[in-house]
Amino acid sequence: MPRAAALLTTTALVAWCGHGVAGEAATADPAPARQQQLVRMVRQDCGSCHGMRLTGGLGPALTREALADRPLVSVAATIFHGRPGTPMPPWRAMLNEREAEWIAQRLLAGFPEEAAKASP
Ligand code: HEC
Repeated sequence: MPRAAALLTTTALVAWCGHGVAGEAATADPAPARQQQLVRMVRQDCGSCHGMRLTGGLGPALTREALADRPLVSVAATIFHGRPGTPMPPWRAMLNEREAEWIAQRLLAGFPEEAAKASP
């Protein structure tokens, strides 16, 4: 029952957000369906450079351990603006700042797996 599984995972993610690293976030988290899109995007698009397990490739590892000493704002800014002069592209055409921050929060907490795949 993939749909039920996806719903469960979404609920888990939403519950988790309330207890994550970024208690200070004043704005709301992205909607659950958008969160799933963002998780998918990170796993697939970011994974093409940072490794399918986010353990590093062309780009450095994005695991919780690797990012442990990185401030949230800096990780979020790297995602949103990219790193000029390096292959790290800006994602502002694909995301708003809150979504970049949400991804940064999730990376710092240990990035979630994609929800069970629904049929295409
Ligand atoms: C075209 C390859 C490429 C893609 C795609 C890419 N990155 Fe990167 N990323 C890099 C490289 C290379 C660096 C290292 C930049 C440097 O030398 O400072 C980097 C650095 C980073 C850093 C900083 C890590 C640190 O240790 O400070 C973060 C965070 C990051 N990327 C997140 C993402 C996220 C999230 C995505 C997807 C939305 C993404 N990247 C997509 C290549 C990529």
